Amino acid sequence: MGERVMMVSWSGLMDALAHCQKCPLAGQRHCVVPGEGNPNARLMLIGEGPGAEEDRSGRPFVGRAGELLTKMLKAIGLSREEVYICNVVKCRPPGNRTPDPQEAAACLPYLRAQVALVRPQVILLLGATAGRYTLDPELRITRDRGRWTERKGVWMMPTFHPAALLRNESLKRAAWQDLQAVREKLDELELKPVREGAE
Ligand code: URA
Repeated sequence: MGERVMMVSWSGLMDALAHCQKCPLAGQRHCVVPGEGNPNARLMLIGEGPGAEEDRSGRPFVGRAGELLTKMLKAIGLSREEVYICNVVKCRPPGNRTPDPQEAAACLPYLRAQVALVRPQVILLLGATAGRYTLDPELRITRDRGRWTERKGVWMMPTFHPAALLRNESLKRAAWQDLQAVREKLDELELKPVREGAE
């Protein structure tokens, strides 16, 4: 069966990921970290790649950055269970280095399959790497954070990675603005069909 066909179901996707050997990261992993959350989430969050704790547990964003991410979501009235959280690459790059273009290219079909299965209305890209591999290779996070792009009816916005917020507290104010904009976009999209119907 072709890869595309296999990945149009969650079970096909999970099976393909569990056995994936498409790039050298596979040889060093303890666990694949596919992603987790609501399979019908309105909001999807995409990070860079698993760190040490994620590699040990098989779950995304469970380390310190993950704790902050959970708090940030809570601040806009969302739980981790309501959203879908995943990464550009599903296996840990050694020493938490940035995934290289070949690794990202090998893994992107899985991310595309996740987007196709979840069908989120809004995607929040956590950090420059997520933004560059999904939205724009030239993206600069300080310049481009907070800007909306609509692609095939999905609203995408890059913001600072929570690990960057842990390193540099002064970025938190901008990240908070971005999160509030996400909350507003979700509310606006929820109301839209009602408004259109009323017109
Ligand atoms: N950083 C990421 O980008 N993803 C994780 O899952 C954890 C830390």
